[in-house]
Amino acid sequence: MTDPYRPLKNAFGRFETGIALAACPNARGGFTVITINSFTSVSLDPALVLWCIENKASTFADFSASPSYAISILNDRQQSVSERFAAHSPSPLVAGEYEIWRTGAPVLKERLAGFDCEVVDRHRSGDHVILVGKVVAFDSKAGAPLTYFASRYGKGPYTD
Ligand SMILES: Cc1cc2nc3c(=O)[nH]c(=O)nc-3n(C[C@H](O)[C@H](O)[C@H](O)COP(=O)(O)O)c2cc1C
Repeated sequence: MTDPYRPLKNAFGRFETGIALAACPNARGGFTVITINSFTSVSLDPALVLWCIENKASTFADFSASPSYAISILNDRQQSVSERFAAHSPSPLVAGEYEIWRTGAPVLKERLAGFDCEVVDRHRSGDHVILVGKVVAFDSKAGAPLTYFASRYGKGPYTD
């Protein structure tokens, strides 16, 4: 069956992005993690970011219930991490893979940047919800990003 949204997806996919993980604690005593490319910085003062979660995602209820999330920006050696958390029911994070900073949400140990966030706004918008987070802790590292363009992973020529 042809996907009726393919032409729109093709157009949206012309905007190259980085790749990140969003993660939150869940009510089962573990962590819920999802691969995203909708991450955007929003505001410097206060420091705000956002990302969008699809209403139908299996992780939707956990992120809707959580007062916090952490964002880990992936580097160019982390395509397999992106693929792992884009899958349904991925293998859970194990000790040694993550750090807990302020909110209780897990930040990946390997990352290009991390943002620990308190959720301050939720906007229902079409088939997604926009989750706005206030950054309560962050860092950044030297390196090169994992990129995404036209449904394909890439590695930018950029590094620092
Ligand atoms: C590169 C890439 C970017 C993605 N970005 C988002 C996103 O921003 N928001 C979202 O809800 N899902 C995004 N997804 C989809 C989720 O990672 C995941 O595949 C989806 O929630 C399906 O999982 P489920 O079957 O457990 O519901 C992205 C997937 C990929 C591969």
